[in-house]
Amino acid sequence: MTQTTPDAPVRRQRAQVKVRTLRTDRWWLVPLLTFLGLSSFLVYGIWAIIDNSYFVDPYIAPFASPCLATSCPEGARLFGWAPFGDWYALPPGLLILGLPGGFRLTCYYYRKSYYRSFWLSPPACAVQEPHGKYTGERRFPLIIQNIHRYFFYAAIVIGLILAYDAVLALVHKPTGLGTWILVVNAVLINAYTLSCHSCRHITAGRLNHFSRHPLRYRAWTFVSKLNAKHQPLAWASMFSVMGADLYVRLVAKGIIAFPYA
Ligand code: FES
Repeated sequence: MTQTTPDAPVRRQRAQVKVRTLRTDRWWLVPLLTFLGLSSFLVYGIWAIIDNSYFVDPYIAPFASPCLATSCPEGARLFGWAPFGDWYALPPGLLILGLPGGFRLTCYYYRKSYYRSFWLSPPACAVQEPHGKYTGERRFPLIIQNIHRYFFYAAIVIGLILAYDAVLALVHKPTGLGTWILVVNAVLINAYTLSCHSCRHITAGRLNHFSRHPLRYRAWTFVSKLNAKHQPLAWASMFSVMGADLYVRLVAKGIIAFPYA
């Protein structure tokens, strides 16, 4: 232990433990599963960007929505709109996935999960990390994580568009399995977005008197309940968006073709 005089500054040192950890449980299981889950999302997302079977009337794959590219087929375009002109013929996912992707990448929960599972920083509580020093998120490049709130505003718009896609499917094909998959996905995506810590702060983060702002207080109470489920919502919405996207593509490719698809 470091000896200090009463006036000397305390030098904070790491505990001098010779082994990596004294834990005897399976602490590595959660980071490993997280690594596999996030990696599968990443690999799927890359494939989805280059895959062209993202629309089969009235379903549009969530990874390609809103479809704003010139290459979008008629019926897939958001409000029939193609704002990027003829010069933009790349896949539509390339144009929009940076927004929901950035939202998840800078999410407080995902940060914890990939810092642990990808960077092992640290991999789990009371397990030594391989890095020699820790500068946190106070400096470049991790200070950029602070733009999360702006991604939140974009995610609200994307969530509304996915809900709009689900309503369109509901109107045109109410008995379709794909319709209900899109509906469940829209609910989970919007629940995850509203459960965001930034959203909770926006509703009433700086208020000193809840009693003077009853509406904001009610919004904050609602968001706080969702916020307590942020981690499960992060996973559920991630798998639902991947599942819904894959389902639409399989129908579009003709791989799933039963009467109520
Ligand atoms: Fe996770 Fe905002 S904190 S989405």
